[in-house]
Amino acid sequence: MKYIVVLPAAGSGKRMKAGHNKLFLTLRGKPILIHTLDVFEQDPNCMAIWLAVKPEERTIIQNMLHNYHITKVKGMPAGGDERQHSVYACVLAADATTGLILVHDAARPFIEPSVITKLTLRAYETGAAIAGVKAKDTMKRVRNHIIEETLDREQLWMIQTPQAFRASILIKAQQQAAQDGFLGTDEAMLVERLNIAVHVVESTYDNVKMTTQEDLLIGEAILQKRQQ
Ligand code: C5P
Repeated sequence: MKYIVVLPAAGSGKRMKAGHNKLFLTLRGKPILIHTLDVFEQDPNCMAIWLAVKPEERTIIQNMLHNYHITKVKGMPAGGDERQHSVYACVLAADATTGLILVHDAARPFIEPSVITKLTLRAYETGAAIAGVKAKDTMKRVRNHIIEETLDREQLWMIQTPQAFRASILIKAQQQAAQDGFLGTDEAMLVERLNIAVHVVESTYDNVKMTTQEDLLIGEAILQKRQQ
């Protein structure tokens, strides 16, 4: 299923404590951002990539794209203060009113192509589909360090990106959120507010987001495993 992808890459990555954009850190000698871009560069169904960037990092990223032969990036709009605003900036710049739009964190370099295929198919059929994995741990709602409730693990999923939507649905959800001043932690939350069913497609546990220093070790281990 053909699609375009929006990659928010304009975060500051404070939790990584890298002193600069964590997406420039390398795994096996290659920047995290390029690992992620490569997945879409190599997917024949990916028609275009839109990258939200910090304006002051645009040149550095442009050079990276050139050095690593990334050709599908069609635009690099300025990101916003929040991830949601960065994604919206890309969707506006892409100006796509039909077809499928995928939103994927640039900080998740290990997304499996097979998950993208499943996800885009489901989004094509239903309008909205996101990647997730079943929760492994027991989850409890806690307030002031006291348990209020133990949640039924059978119903709990840890949600990742990509999140795939029919363009018209994502745009409507983003417009409504902007109008209401609503801030969500993912795009699905915006679509849920329209009372549209969002389908969850089973992904893999190695689709981790590079967030803290420990994630870099996990990332190196994943790449090593994949090379064996
Ligand atoms: O900070 P976190 O890793 O959760 O952000 C997820 C993705 O969103 C990252 O790829 C980051 O660069 C991006 N982001 C963004 N604009 C922001 C905040 C985060 O593009 N204001």
